[in-house]
Amino acid sequence: MFEEQATEELMPSELGTKEYWNEAYLVEKKNFIEYGDVGEVWFGEDSALRIVRWLCSSDLVKQDDSIIDLGCGNGMLLVELAREGFINLTGVDYSQNAIDLAESIMKMQNLTIRYEVRDILSIDDTVMSREYAVALDKGTYDAVSLHPEDSKEKREKYILNVWKLLKPQGLLVITSCNWTEKELILHFSTKFCLLSVIPTPTFQFGGKTGNVISSLVLQKK
Ligand SMILES: C[S@@+](CC[C@H](N)C(=O)[O-])C[C@H]1O[C@@H](n2cnc3c(N)ncnc32)[C@H](O)[C@@H]1O
Repeated sequence: MFEEQATEELMPSELGTKEYWNEAYLVEKKNFIEYGDVGEVWFGEDSALRIVRWLCSSDLVKQDDSIIDLGCGNGMLLVELAREGFINLTGVDYSQNAIDLAESIMKMQNLTIRYEVRDILSIDDTVMSREYAVALDKGTYDAVSLHPEDSKEKREKYILNVWKLLKPQGLLVITSCNWTEKELILHFSTKFCLLSVIPTPTFQFGGKTGNVISSLVLQKK
């Protein structure tokens, strides 16, 4: 409790607002229609592949497990999973334009993924409760943490809602560029425990070694 209070919040940014993402995905939607460009893959393709590889090789995850991508954007992480044979995939995002884009890409690739426009912070208790074996988050907790108003409350609400939508002992695979491994473990520690760290490239600066991206597998307590 003491340590969580000591967490310093991130500098607020427009990347924390729905308006920003809706505008960004409007541009990406047009680019997809005009040029077939699927748009930004956050943290790069290698990062998505590391997550997919972990899921494919884990004894805890089966191909028909219900998997939800929280803040799925263009849905490319789910596309990779569908190509690997996962069959029970859902993507949610609060941006209608993101979901339009993700659906267009899915149709073009002849895949089956459920997509829904949903604000993860406003999921009520009757919807999606304890439905998912695995939740994925690549950059969404980062976006929530950057909200210009009440970011700490929003982060905490996010953690609670993710906990609620997971089945008992469900997994959250979270990838962040704004929080370190230690900070993520601390933020989620009341509701989740650390199961695994997905190795990410390290950099060295001033004799210290660190990671630009943190990728963790947490398990619902
Ligand atoms: C950094 S982008 C990452 C997109 C995608 N996960 C990827 O890896 O390419 C953050 C995403 O989170 C979505 N997002 C942010 N806050 C959200 C919320 N409260 N509910 C649903 N989606 C949200 C944004 O619309 C955006 O698609």
